[in-house]
Amino acid sequence: MNLNELKVKLDAMAEEARAELSTLERQDDLVQARNRYLGRKGLVKDLSAELGKLPPEERRLVGQELNQLKDAIEGAYDAQLKRLEERAREAALAQGAADLTLPGRGLPPSGGHPLIQIEEELIAIFRAMGFDVATGPELEADLYNFESLNFPADHPARDMQDTFFVEPLQGREDILLRTHTSPVQVRTMLKFKPPVRIIAPGVVYRHDDDQTHSPMFRQIECLHVDRGVTMAHLKGTLTHFVQRLFGPSTAIRLRPSFFPFTEPSAEVDVQCIFCGGDGCRVCSHSGWLEILGSGMVDPNVYRACGYDMDGITGYAFGLGVERVAMLKLGIPNIRLFYGNDLRFLSQY
Ligand code: PHE
Repeated sequence: MNLNELKVKLDAMAEEARAELSTLERQDDLVQARNRYLGRKGLVKDLSAELGKLPPEERRLVGQELNQLKDAIEGAYDAQLKRLEERAREAALAQGAADLTLPGRGLPPSGGHPLIQIEEELIAIFRAMGFDVATGPELEADLYNFESLNFPADHPARDMQDTFFVEPLQGREDILLRTHTSPVQVRTMLKFKPPVRIIAPGVVYRHDDDQTHSPMFRQIECLHVDRGVTMAHLKGTLTHFVQRLFGPSTAIRLRPSFFPFTEPSAEVDVQCIFCGGDGCRVCSHSGWLEILGSGMVDPNVYRACGYDMDGITGYAFGLGVERVAMLKLGIPNIRLFYGNDLRFLSQY
C-alpha cells in the first residue's frame, strides 16, 4: 500500500468502527468488537505493519493519523459503554431499585446539645487554669466509690448516696453505678504522685428524681494536691471559675458542710445570678444559689491511696453540670435535657 491508499484505509476504518460500536447492545459484543480493532492481533495492528513499509518521512505523517484512529475507536467504545450502563441503571430503577447516585440528605448545622456545650465551656475554664482531664468508669467498684473515700461499709454516710447495685458481675458483688466522680480522685492518686491537678467530667447515678434531679446526671470533679495547698487556693480557684462563667463581679460563699472524704468540708453558693443577691423566686429569697460541694482532702483518703502525707495537702470539689447549665441557660426542668425535643434543643 502506498501513502494514499493507507490514508483512505484509515479513514474508512474510523468510520466503520464508529458505526459498528454505536449499534452494539450487549457489553460482551462491545468488548469483542473493540478487541477486534485494537487487540494485539487486531485490524489496527495490521495497518501499523503496513506503515513500516513506507519511507520514513511519510511514516511520521501516517503515524499521527494512526494514533488518531486508535483514539477515535477507544472514544466510540467508551461512549457506547456509558450508554449501555446508563440504560441498565434506568431499567433497574424502573423495577424499584434504590438510586445510589442520588446525593445524601446531609446534616443541618448544629451547636451540639446544650448540656454538652456547657460541659465543654466548664472544661475549657479549668484547662486554662492548668488542670488536666482524667476519667474513670461508670461501673465502679465499692472500693473506689466508697471505701477509699472514707465511707466505711454499713456507715450511715452511704445513705446520702444510695445507688444502683448491679447483679454480681464476673463473680464480683461489689460493682455499682458510681454515685459521684470522686472515685476518679482515688484512681488518679493511686497512679500519680503529687503535684496532682485534675478535673474529671463524667456521668453519675443516684436514686433522686424530681424537677431538678435526675437518676443519671453529669458531674465535674476537681482535685488539686501539692505541697502547701490551702483552703485559700480552693476559694481562689472557685472565685475565678464562677467569675469566668457568670461574670466578673459574681461572689461566692462557703458554708460548713460534711463529706466523708473532705475535712473541713464546705457547700459553695454563688450570688444569685437572677436577682444579684436581692432575693427572688429562683434563690428562694436567700440571694444565693448552691452549686457544688467541696473541701480539703481527708488524710484517710491519702492513706487509702498510699500517699506519704508529709507536708502534702489538697482540695477537691464536685459540681453538677445540669445544675450549672440550668442556671446559666435559665432552664426550669432537668427533664428538658433528656427529652430530645427539637423545639427545646434547637434554641441552643
Ligand atoms: N462527691 C460529692 C458529691 O457528689 C461532691 C464533692 C466532691 C464534695 C469533692 C467534696 C469534694 O456530692
